[in-house]
Amino acid sequence: MVNTFFQWFPPCIAFVSFVVSSCQTETVKDARITKTMEKESMARVGKLVQECRVCHGVEEAQRGPILDGMEYWYLYEQLQKFRSGIRGQNPKNRSEHLMGIGVKKLNNDLEVAYLADWFARQDPKPSVRTVWGDEERGKLFYDARCASCHGEKAKGNRLVGGPALTRLEGWYFLEQMRKFRSDERGYHQRDESGRVMAAASKGITDDTLKDVVAYIVNNYGPEHEPSMRDRMIPPKSKKPF
Ligand code: HEC
Ligand code: HEC
Repeated sequence: MVNTFFQWFPPCIAFVSFVVSSCQTETVKDARITKTMEKESMARVGKLVQECRVCHGVEEAQRGPILDGMEYWYLYEQLQKFRSGIRGQNPKNRSEHLMGIGVKKLNNDLEVAYLADWFARQDPKPSVRTVWGDEERGKLFYDARCASCHGEKAKGNRLVGGPALTRLEGWYFLEQMRKFRSDERGYHQRDESGRVMAAASKGITDDTLKDVVAYIVNNYGPEHEPSMRDRMIPPKSKKPF
């Protein structure tokens, strides 16, 4: 009995400290932050949000994804990736490149943290369905190849750095999968989590990607919103001819 205790105690401690340390990445790292900076950054958040909204609004045909309701830690990490240039510096990836420019407006870690927090606290937004596929096939594939890192119901798995996929619009989801597959995203030497995901995307056909995206978006994704085209169709006439 005592033997088994000592056998399992050290690995338990190691596991607990791993969990604790991986939860600490959220703290603001910039040690030079002063009270004045804090005040200034707070005051700038509102203005910055407006600038982000130019590309991250909820209008159709916008250029960036809707960020509302994504997880804080994921938003924070991605913003830091854009800031340090390990995401957003590939000229082939034009939309990502745009974001690399957008993020230059952020002055310090504090502003990154405030913005990540602001977007994380917004209510998720409905989105237009844009991707169709065989959801049953999508589920089989997802359970076998994605669930271990993104959770059975796409709620994410923080321990392995897998974000929730529940806020993604279909078009953006599909586009990112293709970018991972072609090494347009997750290619940088220092982008460890990006490269993990890039490896997980290799060799998946477009049809299978659509099946997976349709399955996740329709079952766990944002609420469905009628598209502009659907809204333009006049309501059925009540007259009997
Ligand atoms: C000029 C347009 C533009 C501006 C301004 C902009 N972004 Fe982006 N952003 C994009 C595009 C486009 C993408 C998608 C990049 C891709 O395709 O990989 C993106 C991606 C992101 C992502 C990654 C989302 C994910 O799911 O991985 C985050 C986070 C983000 N932007 C936050 C912000 C914040 C915060 C601001 C304001 C400081 C901002 N962006 C300003 C265009 C912009
Ligand atoms: C071994 C773990 C692992 C597996 C398996 C995996 N992922 Fe990921 N995934 C990640 C990590 C880590 C990230 C974060 C990448 C980053 O930081 O850029 C990620 C990111 C993503 C993103 C980007 C989300 C965004 O907001 O831009 C999508 C989409 C995604 N994964 C979908 C999938 C799908 C679909 C599968 C199954 C085919 C899958 N993943 C399999 C670990 C994994």
